Amino acid sequence: MSAKRANKANGKGNENFVRGRFKEDISDLTADFTASLDIDKKFAEFDIEGSFAHLEALFKAGLVTEDEKNKIKEGLSVISEELKSNKFKFDKRYEDIHINIEKRLIELTGSAGEKLHTGRSRNDQVSLDFRLYVKNEIKKIADVLIGLRSELIKKAKDNVETFLPGYTHMQHAQPVSLAHHLLAYYEMFTRDFIKLKNTYISADSMTLGSGALAGVDFNIDRELEAEILGFGKISRNSIDSVSDRDFAIEFNFVLSMISLHLSRFCEELILWNSQEFNFVDIKDEFTTGSSIMPQKKNPDVLELIRGKTGSVISGLVSLFIMMKSLPLAYNRDMQEDKKPVMESSETIYKSLEIFKEIIGTLEFKKSNMRLQLNDDEIYATDMASYLVNKGLPFRKSHEIIGNAVSYSKAHNVKLSEITINDYKKFSELFENDIYVLFDAGHSVNSKKTYGSTSLARIMKIIPDYDDEIKRDKDDEIFL
Ligand code: ARG
Repeated sequence: MSAKRANKANGKGNENFVRGRFKEDISDLTADFTASLDIDKKFAEFDIEGSFAHLEALFKAGLVTEDEKNKIKEGLSVISEELKSNKFKFDKRYEDIHINIEKRLIELTGSAGEKLHTGRSRNDQVSLDFRLYVKNEIKKIADVLIGLRSELIKKAKDNVETFLPGYTHMQHAQPVSLAHHLLAYYEMFTRDFIKLKNTYISADSMTLGSGALAGVDFNIDRELEAEILGFGKISRNSIDSVSDRDFAIEFNFVLSMISLHLSRFCEELILWNSQEFNFVDIKDEFTTGSSIMPQKKNPDVLELIRGKTGSVISGLVSLFIMMKSLPLAYNRDMQEDKKPVMESSETIYKSLEIFKEIIGTLEFKKSNMRLQLNDDEIYATDMASYLVNKGLPFRKSHEIIGNAVSYSKAHNVKLSEITINDYKKFSELFENDIYVLFDAGHSVNSKKTYGSTSLARIMKIIPDYDDEIKRDKDDEIFL
């Protein structure tokens, strides 16, 4: 027998409750390789919550006496206190959080504690803990997401009449209201919020009572457990219950979407903060200096949020690949499910938290934005519409304005400076009123459709957003 192996006979073996059938204890290498305590210790509070609920079900089924129930309750409360005050001694010899807590419970309550695992397997236990954890994280992220959406609405309200170029292909396209631009991000984060809610529903299925995979032999009242734990429903199939990680993948997907949206916004603000654009001023407290270049004020926080997108999306990919081809039911591969989700969730929570502050304190350099609107070509589409309104087919009008643009380039004269006589050479339909088009306010307000950038449309839609935020804040899922 290897010296590395603890000898069962000397009483050191069977540390993890699961070694009854073995002659030898596991090697240190195996113990170390299979342990998940460093990761799943984050489940501690949820594991205890689950145990309280399971205890009630055991009592109802007559599997523990009132006295035993009280002892176990007392023991679980002591452990909970120890965890809160950082006094709980995590023991690496026990591979995961479930065994750590159970060992301590037995230490505190003796044979009463030994009954708690009746009608339960770590397979349904870990599924339950993970669901409780994801539900809790979703609430935290939903909350900070609402905060960010509120900041965006505030900034939009302050900037309905701030105009800047809208871009396509990073080229001046058409003037837009800054409010409209900001509210585009509001829409993204609102979709993320809805996805979070749907993911909450996926996670909101109570899986205790599934046992290892086949269900359990005792009359465990699963409805009672669900009620105590605040689940909306109980799972319907024990095999699926212990092997389903869709909720975790969905959660990491939503986190990836948030990350993607944040990365786009950050990228834009980084550009806007460059000397070339000079559209925004990021508050000093969210920027850093350079160790060599004294003039630098770098948007590091935004760059880091952008940079973290890689790890969040890779978390999603890890989960997909880990679950791919796994046969039913539980497989140990699934122990690898927690790390990506926990890391992604923490990353996104922290990113949203600081990004919300950056948005709230961001200064827009309105005059620099306006300066870019002196580029007359940005009004070319309005000019095309002008001729359409005078009866010309759009394709004809597009061509005529194209000719005017090329004339302005060739003669180095701005579109607003071409004389009416010269315009009339392109089309008899041009009149003196063409010159009112070279104005951002005019351009923006000439948009008519629902969802467009016109001030009237924006002013009308903002109250809808206010109502939406209020509804989302009061959403009972998150209360
Ligand atoms: N640490 C395990 C996990 O995270 C708990 C479930 C272990 N079950 C088992 N049969 N080995 O997945």
